[in-house]
Amino acid sequence: MRTTICHDARPGARLHLYLSICLCVAGLSLSSMGKAHAQDAAAGEKVFTKCKACHVTDTDQNKIGPSLKGVIGRTAGTHAGFKYSAAMTDAGKGGMVWDETTLTTYLHDPKGVVKGTKMAFAGLKVDKDVADVIAFLKQASP
Ligand code: HEC
Repeated sequence: MRTTICHDARPGARLHLYLSICLCVAGLSLSSMGKAHAQDAAAGEKVFTKCKACHVTDTDQNKIGPSLKGVIGRTAGTHAGFKYSAAMTDAGKGGMVWDETTLTTYLHDPKGVVKGTKMAFAGLKVDKDVADVIAFLKQASP
């Protein structure tokens, strides 16, 4: 490889080669980032089996819990047609919006974060499970 460069008489050929290598490396890291994200969402879909008894993400249908379609960016306790606990409605009135931060604390400890919530779920103990399920929710509810 090196000999090829040294013997290449074209001006700028070496720079061109370096640039291509750079772009190639950048491209590789971008695509692996993309993959990591897809994997998180896929892992999160498995974690979501724990939520499926009570929640859907693909339609607006409420089950035991409210639909989580479009939950990212939604004010707590505001999905149409669901009868929330006063605790959840109050949390929303208090300005609680579902984003990465609020979901992370809530999913670790639902009853600790929204005292009096009727979500009968102990919470996810593993940080990665929480991050993955949020990645899934983001993908499933753009
Ligand atoms: C046993 C049923 C049940 C399980 C399991 C459950 N939830 Fe819930 N969830 C509920 C109920 C009921 C509510 C409404 C709580 C309230 O009104 O206080 C709720 C509320 C929520 C909310 C707030 C939605 C809103 O519109 O404000 C989020 C987010 C949520 N759940 C996520 C999850 C995730 C993620 C899982 C799985 C890790 C999960 N839940 C597991 C029943 C459940």
